[in-house]
Amino acid sequence: MSTRRQFIGQSSALLAGTALFSSSSWMSLASAASEGEMLRRTIPSSGESVPAIGMGTSGSFEVTPGSPQYQALKEVLRRFFDGGGTIIDTAPTYSNAEDVLGPLLDEAKLRPKAFIATKLSGVSGRAEGLAQFQKSLKSLRTDKVELLQVHNLGDWKTQLAVARELKEQGKVKYTGITHYLDSAHDQLADVVQETKPDFLQINYSVTNRGAERRLFPMAQELGIAVLANRNFNDGRMFNQVKGKALPGWAAEVGITSWAQMFLKFCLSHEAVTAVIPATGKPDRQSDNLKAGFGPLLTPAQKKEVIELVG
Ligand SMILES: NC(=O)c1ccc[n+]([C@@H]2O[C@H](COP(=O)([O-])OP(=O)(O)OC[C@H]3O[C@@H](n4cnc5c(N)ncnc54)[C@H](OP(=O)(O)O)[C@@H]3O)[C@@H](O)[C@H]2O)c1
Repeated sequence: MSTRRQFIGQSSALLAGTALFSSSSWMSLASAASEGEMLRRTIPSSGESVPAIGMGTSGSFEVTPGSPQYQALKEVLRRFFDGGGTIIDTAPTYSNAEDVLGPLLDEAKLRPKAFIATKLSGVSGRAEGLAQFQKSLKSLRTDKVELLQVHNLGDWKTQLAVARELKEQGKVKYTGITHYLDSAHDQLADVVQETKPDFLQINYSVTNRGAERRLFPMAQELGIAVLANRNFNDGRMFNQVKGKALPGWAAEVGITSWAQMFLKFCLSHEAVTAVIPATGKPDRQSDNLKAGFGPLLTPAQKKEVIELVG
């Protein structure tokens, strides 16, 4: 069996002679891949570079401490960091996800490596926002977070001001605004245009491409980083490809599973800074991480995937 480095070398060599792949994004990824490193993207507001495969915690981290699912998360996290990941998205309203994530990072001494993205969620008014953030810090066993996002546009004017206040105090590195529904894209775009946060987070997948219309061009124009959520449409996309073979060219771009194809599709849009797929299963985590290696998809390949998934 070939190692990942050998495999990437083979892929790069294969593609080096292919005149088709000449876009700047492909060239920059090809050079990253040849060094055996995960694809990285830059946060426009700071110039900081981050790995393009992140992870979510909705569902997957809402488990009982000490349960088999909880034990499996230790390995999910170990593989994530060993594979080059850092960005972990969570929220105080994902039941006990922050209370699970915090101790697991702390016990494995992984907090210094993590880029924690949490949220101000379901709160109203400055006092509630600040109190919720304090509780998040306690749950996450930390004194600051890398990204604080206003969840689903809730009370967004006040909560974004809270996030910015905390950023000024050094308790938050970046601010952001999130949503997960196509029906909210226009409102989110209006708010992003008006407030220019460091990050926006939105749903984006092979089957939900609405963000390409306004949000992604806006993010590129205004210099806003993008976290793409629901890359598997909450897992539904796996049913759509049941029994369908991957395209013949998949191996040439380092893809061996539909999960990798779905994630690489998202990363093939230059506006996307990172994807944040959620799983509680170690082998699926390893699978997802592989999407951060090897060439991106060309426009023709993306079109073929859209048609295949249906
Ligand atoms: N408004 C917001 O801010 C917002 C909204 C939605 C989501 N999010 C964030 O985005 C993250 C991702 O979204 P999501 O959790 O809704 O959905 P998702 O990532 O699209 O899908 C998760 C589903 O895919 C399955 N899965 C993961 N990796 C797989 C693989 N390699 N092969 C097969 N199945 C796989 C998971 O099952 P298993 O767990 O059984 O592996 C789970 O059922 C969330 O966790 C959250 O952090 C934010």
